[in-house]
Amino acid sequence: MKKQAQKSVKITPALRALIKKAVTESDWLHHPEPGRVNNGWPMFDEKEVLNALDALLNVRISQGVKVQLFEEMAAKYVGTKYAVACNSGSSANLLALTALIASGKVKRGDEVIIPATTFATVASPIVQAGLIPVYVDVDQNSWNLDIKEVEKAIGPKTRVLMPVHTFGNPVDMPAIMKIAKKHKLIVLEDCCEAHGAAIGKKKVGSFGDISTLSFFVAHNITTGEGGMIFTNDKKLDELLRSLREFGRVSNDVMKNERFTHGDKVLKGFDARYIFLRLGYNMRMTDITASLGIEQIKKLDSFNKQRIRNVEAYLKALAPYEKFLILPTIRKGTFHSFYGFPFLIKKDAPFSRMDFVKFLEARGIETRPFFGGCLPDQPAFRDEPKRVVGNLPVARWTRDWSIFVGCHPALTADHIKHVTKAFKEFLSQY
Ligand SMILES: Cc1ncc(COP(=O)(O)O)c(C=O)c1O
Repeated sequence: MKKQAQKSVKITPALRALIKKAVTESDWLHHPEPGRVNNGWPMFDEKEVLNALDALLNVRISQGVKVQLFEEMAAKYVGTKYAVACNSGSSANLLALTALIASGKVKRGDEVIIPATTFATVASPIVQAGLIPVYVDVDQNSWNLDIKEVEKAIGPKTRVLMPVHTFGNPVDMPAIMKIAKKHKLIVLEDCCEAHGAAIGKKKVGSFGDISTLSFFVAHNITTGEGGMIFTNDKKLDELLRSLREFGRVSNDVMKNERFTHGDKVLKGFDARYIFLRLGYNMRMTDITASLGIEQIKKLDSFNKQRIRNVEAYLKALAPYEKFLILPTIRKGTFHSFYGFPFLIKKDAPFSRMDFVKFLEARGIETRPFFGGCLPDQPAFRDEPKRVVGNLPVARWTRDWSIFVGCHPALTADHIKHVTKAFKEFLSQY
């Protein structure tokens, strides 16, 4: 049978000009309304829209060539051999942990060390995969895993260290890798808040055995929903691809040994329907990937703008350090500032609620540091866990932390609005 040539639909210059005009004229795509400062904002121009349109016009609506290209670009950017796209950062964590189990490197019942202050789906995939989270306190300046506590937390069942680069502030990875080497542990870096963050020239996500990213809408770059897993380990890459797609045999087998693969029971059975392990469907679509392809080209310039915004906030807050603990950029590191976090000192003459109400009344969105102290959350209270110490800093962040947006869609007027609000509130005390 003659194979029908696939006709590709091209975006014409006229269509390109039309979309560019529509995007340029759309306030929504560019600016949150004046006086409103959201925590995050998608930064799209016509390139994302056109690439997504190209996917639609060519009916590339499931996982295909655009996902593959996005994976290649992301692996090159982070500096790993392999990158596997999926549908969210939460799925990326679940796939990464499940692949570690499927590889035999980790077994059910083993422990995974995580910071107590972080997002829910750092801990829940650990429990969902049949592993035990070990909650360790965070450092009061970086809100990352407290390195001093990590070594104390290691027990006979500990197999994985899972540092999270909180708000894009790189964890001291050389120290983590040293501990991992000494105790023969695997390192899973959660970089879901740390797109482009680096230590020296080395990007976070390239230090550990495996790492994850999220492309949720509020993040430094976004595909709406989306995630990615990075590794240099070929076996893990193969397992991740299989697990993200129902537990299937590899693409190579499906293509080259479709009716010859089989095993002792399934002889000559179509390899497309041979399932080797319990898998999920966590694929990214080409429509989603088309956004990521354009976004990743802009990441470095977005991050530079974030840092400029943070510098303005830091300048405004510097006179009030007696009340606050402000984020610092460690020498030799590149902090990508997913948000602008600060911690109120417990002896400050105002409460978090006072500050939150003041900011929110002026259209400035606030958030606590994610789950605060995860073992205190209803979801985790009765689930298997080990808690190391009393988690004083995690509980402090639970009750006293705030973060606000510093994303590149904010104009000079937005930044002025925030710094003015900071000063107005704090100068009362
Ligand atoms: C540290 C961390 N890990 C995982 C996730 C989950 O990512 P997603 O929202 O894409 O599922 C988040 C969410 O933002 C996060 O902050």
